[in-house]
Amino acid sequence: AREEHLRSILDAVPDAMVVIDERGLIISFSAAAEKMFGYREAELLGENVSRLMPSPDRERHDGYLRRYYETGQPKIIGIGRVTTARRRDGTTFPIDLHIGEARLGEDRVFTGFIHDLSERQETERQLHRLQ
Ligand code: HEM
Repeated sequence: AREEHLRSILDAVPDAMVVIDERGLIISFSAAAEKMFGYREAELLGENVSRLMPSPDRERHDGYLRRYYETGQPKIIGIGRVTTARRRDGTTFPIDLHIGEARLGEDRVFTGFIHDLSERQETERQLHRLQ
Protein backbone atom coordinates (compact mmCIF):
# COMPACT_ATOMS: atom_id res chain seq x y z
CA ALA A 1 0.00 0.00 0.00
CA ARG A 2 2.85 2.36 0.84
CA GLU A 3 4.46 1.49 -2.45
CA GLU A 4 1.24 2.27 -4.34
CA HIS A 5 0.86 5.58 -2.57
CA LEU A 6 4.42 6.55 -3.53
CA ARG A 7 3.74 5.44 -7.11
CA SER A 8 0.61 7.60 -7.37
CA ILE A 9 2.59 10.61 -6.17
CA LEU A 10 5.37 9.93 -8.68
CA ASP A 11 2.88 9.66 -11.52
CA ALA A 12 1.43 13.06 -10.66
CA VAL A 13 4.74 14.95 -10.59
CA PRO A 14 5.22 16.90 -13.86
CA ASP A 15 9.01 16.77 -13.69
CA ALA A 16 10.83 13.51 -14.22
CA MET A 17 11.82 11.76 -11.02
CA VAL A 18 14.60 9.17 -10.92
CA VAL A 19 15.67 7.34 -7.77
CA ILE A 20 19.09 5.63 -7.62
CA ASP A 21 20.89 3.55 -5.02
CA GLU A 22 24.39 4.16 -3.68
CA ARG A 23 25.96 2.49 -6.71
CA GLY A 24 24.09 4.78 -9.10
CA LEU A 25 21.67 2.06 -10.22
CA ILE A 26 18.09 3.09 -11.00
CA ILE A 27 15.45 1.84 -8.55
CA SER A 28 12.53 4.02 -9.64
CA PHE A 29 11.68 5.89 -12.86
CA SER A 30 8.50 8.01 -12.91
CA ALA A 31 5.87 8.21 -15.67
CA ALA A 32 7.08 11.73 -16.58
CA ALA A 33 10.63 10.35 -16.81
CA GLU A 34 9.42 7.65 -19.21
CA LYS A 35 7.91 10.31 -21.44
CA MET A 36 10.92 12.66 -21.23
CA PHE A 37 13.57 10.03 -22.01
CA GLY A 38 11.66 7.50 -24.14
CA TYR A 39 12.43 4.49 -21.91
CA ARG A 40 9.97 2.33 -19.97
CA GLU A 41 10.80 2.00 -16.29
CA ALA A 42 11.18 -1.80 -16.64
CA GLU A 43 14.04 -1.35 -19.13
CA LEU A 44 16.03 0.86 -16.76
CA LEU A 45 15.59 -0.78 -13.35
CA GLY A 46 19.06 -1.84 -12.21
CA GLU A 47 20.74 0.16 -15.00
CA ASN A 48 23.26 2.91 -14.26
CA VAL A 49 21.82 6.44 -14.18
CA SER A 50 24.68 7.40 -16.50
CA ARG A 51 22.56 5.95 -19.35
CA LEU A 52 20.56 9.19 -19.10
CA MET A 53 23.45 11.52 -19.95
CA PRO A 54 25.90 12.12 -22.81
CA SER A 55 29.69 11.83 -22.68
CA PRO A 56 31.85 12.80 -20.92
CA ASP A 57 29.54 12.77 -17.85
CA ARG A 58 28.41 9.25 -18.86
CA GLU A 59 31.88 7.81 -18.27
CA ARG A 60 32.55 10.00 -15.24
CA HIS A 61 29.35 9.73 -13.20
CA ASP A 62 30.51 6.74 -11.08
CA GLY A 63 33.55 8.86 -10.22
CA TYR A 64 31.30 11.79 -9.23
CA LEU A 65 29.50 9.52 -6.76
CA ARG A 66 32.84 8.23 -5.42
CA ARG A 67 34.13 11.76 -5.01
CA TYR A 68 31.05 12.65 -3.01
CA TYR A 69 31.40 9.60 -0.69
CA GLU A 70 35.06 10.39 -0.10
CA THR A 71 34.74 14.12 0.50
CA GLY A 72 31.16 14.49 1.77
CA GLN A 73 31.05 17.69 -0.27
CA PRO A 74 27.98 17.94 -2.50
CA LYS A 75 28.28 19.76 -5.83
CA ILE A 76 24.66 19.34 -6.97
CA ILE A 77 22.73 17.98 -3.95
CA GLY A 78 20.87 20.89 -2.37
CA ILE A 79 22.24 23.27 -5.01
CA GLY A 80 20.92 22.22 -8.42
CA ARG A 81 22.62 22.38 -11.80
CA VAL A 82 21.71 23.23 -15.40
CA THR A 83 23.22 20.45 -17.50
CA THR A 84 22.57 18.12 -20.47
CA ALA A 85 20.61 14.85 -20.59
CA ARG A 86 20.35 12.16 -23.28
CA ARG A 87 17.19 10.50 -24.61
CA ARG A 88 16.88 6.89 -25.68
CA ASP A 89 17.30 7.93 -29.34
CA GLY A 90 20.65 9.57 -28.51
CA THR A 91 19.47 13.17 -28.82
CA THR A 92 20.45 15.52 -26.02
CA PHE A 93 18.49 18.27 -24.29
CA PRO A 94 19.10 20.90 -21.59
CA ILE A 95 17.82 20.15 -18.09
CA ASP A 96 17.59 21.66 -14.66
CA LEU A 97 18.65 18.91 -12.23
CA HIS A 98 17.86 18.80 -8.52
CA ILE A 99 19.04 15.99 -6.27
CA GLY A 100 17.98 15.00 -2.78
CA GLU A 101 19.54 12.42 -0.48
CA ALA A 102 17.53 10.14 1.78
CA ARG A 103 17.96 7.11 3.97
CA LEU A 104 15.89 4.02 3.12
CA GLY A 105 16.37 1.71 6.11
CA GLU A 106 20.07 0.84 6.03
CA ASP A 107 20.58 2.23 2.57
CA ARG A 108 21.24 5.65 1.17
CA VAL A 109 19.27 6.64 -1.95
CA PHE A 110 19.32 9.71 -4.16
CA THR A 111 16.26 11.26 -5.76
CA GLY A 112 16.74 13.30 -8.90
CA PHE A 113 14.16 15.76 -10.23
CA ILE A 114 14.68 16.68 -13.85
CA HIS A 115 13.05 19.65 -15.53
CA ASP A 116 13.28 19.77 -19.33
CA LEU A 117 14.57 23.21 -20.40
CA SER A 118 14.40 22.73 -24.18
CA GLU A 119 11.25 24.78 -24.55
CA ARG A 120 12.66 27.64 -22.52
CA GLN A 121 15.89 27.55 -24.53
CA GLU A 122 13.93 27.67 -27.82
CA THR A 123 11.90 30.69 -26.60
CA GLU A 124 15.12 32.47 -25.65
CA ARG A 125 16.54 31.76 -29.10
CA GLN A 126 13.48 33.22 -30.79
CA LEU A 127 13.56 36.32 -28.58
CA HIS A 128 17.20 36.77 -29.53
CA ARG A 129 16.33 36.58 -33.22
CA LEU A 130 13.68 39.27 -32.77
CA GLN A 131 16.13 41.75 -31.24
C1 HEM B 1 27.10 14.29 -9.33
C2 HEM B 1 25.90 15.05 -13.95
C3 HEM B 1 21.65 12.84 -13.27
C4 HEM B 1 22.97 11.83 -8.71
C5 HEM B 1 27.09 14.73 -10.62
C6 HEM B 1 28.11 15.59 -11.20
C7 HEM B 1 27.77 15.80 -12.49
C8 HEM B 1 26.54 15.08 -12.74
C9 HEM B 1 28.52 16.66 -13.53
C10 HEM B 1 29.37 16.11 -10.48
C11 HEM B 1 29.28 17.57 -10.16
C12 HEM B 1 30.63 18.12 -9.77
O1 HEM B 1 31.46 17.40 -9.18
O2 HEM B 1 30.86 19.30 -10.06
C13 HEM B 1 24.64 14.50 -14.17
C14 HEM B 1 23.93 14.60 -15.43
C15 HEM B 1 22.73 14.00 -15.25
C16 HEM B 1 22.71 13.50 -13.86
C17 HEM B 1 24.44 15.27 -16.71
C18 HEM B 1 21.70 13.91 -16.33
C19 HEM B 1 20.74 13.01 -16.40
C20 HEM B 1 21.62 12.41 -11.96
C21 HEM B 1 20.48 11.80 -11.32
C22 HEM B 1 20.85 11.52 -10.04
C23 HEM B 1 22.23 11.95 -9.88
C24 HEM B 1 19.14 11.57 -11.99
C25 HEM B 1 20.07 10.90 -8.92
C26 HEM B 1 18.92 10.28 -9.05
C27 HEM B 1 24.21 12.41 -8.49
C28 HEM B 1 24.87 12.39 -7.21
C29 HEM B 1 26.07 13.11 -7.36
C30 HEM B 1 26.09 13.55 -8.76
C31 HEM B 1 24.39 11.71 -5.94
C32 HEM B 1 27.15 13.37 -6.30
C33 HEM B 1 26.72 14.39 -5.28
C34 HEM B 1 26.97 15.85 -5.67
O3 HEM B 1 27.98 16.12 -6.36
O4 HEM B 1 26.17 16.70 -5.25
N1 HEM B 1 26.16 14.45 -11.58
N2 HEM B 1 23.90 13.81 -13.26
N3 HEM B 1 22.67 12.48 -11.08
N4 HEM B 1 24.95 13.10 -9.39
FE1 HEM B 1 24.48 13.34 -11.34
